[in-house]
Amino acid sequence: MTDAPVSALTLPAMTDFLLRRRSTKIKNLSAPGPDAAQMAAILKAAARVPDHGKMVPWRFIVMTGEARARAGEMLRAAFLTEDPDAAPAKLDLESERFLRAPAVVAVVSSIKEGKTPEWEQILSAGAACFNLCLAANSMGFASTWLTEWYAYNPAFAKAMGLEGKERFAGFIYLGTATENPEERERPEMEKVVRYL
Ligand SMILES: Cc1cc2nc3c(=O)[nH]c(=O)nc-3n(C[C@H](O)[C@H](O)[C@H](O)COP(=O)(O)O)c2cc1C
Repeated sequence: MTDAPVSALTLPAMTDFLLRRRSTKIKNLSAPGPDAAQMAAILKAAARVPDHGKMVPWRFIVMTGEARARAGEMLRAAFLTEDPDAAPAKLDLESERFLRAPAVVAVVSSIKEGKTPEWEQILSAGAACFNLCLAANSMGFASTWLTEWYAYNPAFAKAMGLEGKERFAGFIYLGTATENPEERERPEMEKVVRYL
C-alpha cells in the first residue's frame, strides 16, 4: 500500500488489467466468494463512484449463503407472474438462480429528489455496478453483471423491498473462476472514437 496522492498513482498492472478485463460466464463461477471483510471492502469501493450532488442514488442488497435460497423463493413466486402456468420443474430452476455463485449483490438504482438529473443518477448506479466488479476482480474474484428477467419483474422488486422509483441496475454475481474467459470481440475503435 502506498500513501502517494491518488491523483499521482501510476498502476501499470491496473492499466493492463483494464485492457484485458472480462466478465466470467455464470457457469464458470464457483466457491470461494468474498468473505465478510472482502465484501465490505468491495461494497465500499462500489460506493466510491462519481455521484453528482452527493445524491447517493444507489444501494446494495447482498446475498450470500442461505439468503440466496430465500431470495430464490421470491424468484419462484415472481416467476408465476411471468408465467402462471409454469411447470414445477421450471419454478425450481428459477428459484436456484442466485445459487449459481457464492455471492450475489443486487445494485438498486435509487433516484433521489434534487437538482441532479435522473439520468445522471442512473449513470452513477451503473458506475457502482462496475466499480463493484472491478473491486472484486482486484481481489482475484471473477464477476458478471446480469439483469435477466427478474430485474424487470415488479413482484420481485416488491418482495426485495424496492420502493417508489427504485429499479435494479443489476445483479453482480461474484465467485472464483473455474475457467479463464475467452476473448470477446471488441468494437473497432475508429468506429466509436472521433477526435475533434
Ligand atoms: C446493465 C447490464 C445488464 C446485463 N445483463 C446481462 C444478462 O442478463 N445476461 C447476459 O448474458 N449478459 C448481461 N450483461 C452483459 C455481461 O455483464 C457482460 O458485460 C458481457 O457478457 C460482456 O462481457 P465482458 O464484460 O467480458 O465484456 C449485462 C450487461 C449490462 C451492462
